[in-house]
Amino acid sequence: MSSITRRTALAAGASLLAPAWAQTASPTPAKPLVIKFSHVVAPETPKGKGALRFKELMEIRSGGRVKVEVYPNSTLFKDKDEIAALRRGEVQLLAPSLSKLRPLGVKEFEVFDLPFLFKNRNAFSDTARSYGRTLFTKLEPTGVRGLAFWDNGFLLMSANRRLRDVDDFKGLKMRIQSSAVAEAEMRALGAEPRVMNFSELFTGLQAGSVDGTEGTASNFLTQRLPEVQKHLTLSNHGYLAYALLVNRAFHDGLPADLRAVFDSAIADATQYANAIANTENAWALGKIKTSARVALYAPLAAELDEWRRALMGVHQDVATRVGPAALQAAYQAAGFVPPR
Ligand code: LMR
Repeated sequence: MSSITRRTALAAGASLLAPAWAQTASPTPAKPLVIKFSHVVAPETPKGKGALRFKELMEIRSGGRVKVEVYPNSTLFKDKDEIAALRRGEVQLLAPSLSKLRPLGVKEFEVFDLPFLFKNRNAFSDTARSYGRTLFTKLEPTGVRGLAFWDNGFLLMSANRRLRDVDDFKGLKMRIQSSAVAEAEMRALGAEPRVMNFSELFTGLQAGSVDGTEGTASNFLTQRLPEVQKHLTLSNHGYLAYALLVNRAFHDGLPADLRAVFDSAIADATQYANAIANTENAWALGKIKTSARVALYAPLAAELDEWRRALMGVHQDVATRVGPAALQAAYQAAGFVPPR
């Protein structure tokens, strides 16, 4: 058993065994139904492992009637193409970050990108379970169905200079996801935001087309960013999480017995992915620390207050797009009280 498998095996919880009803599913047809699951991160991340767990559960529980092909690391579609491909039915499952849902037109998802909204992981999952679920219903007319929220963790900030004070961002080109909130955030810090596909992040940093980025420890390590970034600030200023999305026509068209198997595999893979996210990130941060290639900086409370003050305007900016009611709903779900 690899160290990564060992690390997360206990957190897994979900049984691989088929429930009794799945064992009575129809006989195996000659050609299995293929489900393509495309994503942009490494297989050894919370999302990567969650996708593989879904494959394992789905294939076992369907008794070979379904084959799941998982495409990690943007090998099938990159950020900018994957949502269109899902709508066309060229792929059945995706788990883009909540920051990348803009093409689906439900602006309210932007609230999940608000800086310093979540004080801990529970605040994120409470918001996803309550407010987030109501947003999933708004996706239905787009031909895409939201199945679940998958966790990753808090965002850290990296560059080749130490990012301690807001002034340290001045003049830096920072890679961002295609999020209006991230864009406003980098501008508020005095940096220049650059939207870039996740698959181009390493080479972008290596070539100097961007100077820094924000991301979780797990993504930082598995994209080999310690080779191209010297400083990492443990700012926890934002949150990275995913919407597990299925092509709606595909989901509706599954025969009833397979649909039940599919839904149970999704539920158990979700539980698994969310159970391992924290451990995976803590482990990755430990690895980054012991490799000693990257200088970690834990900002003082007063320094983070300065970041918070600089970034609160972004909340207002979001309110102008999503409306004050959506902002208040997110605040309430997250238990967030804006500073006076
Ligand atoms: C990013 O682009 O930084 C992330 O959305 C990648 C991911 O899927 O975790």
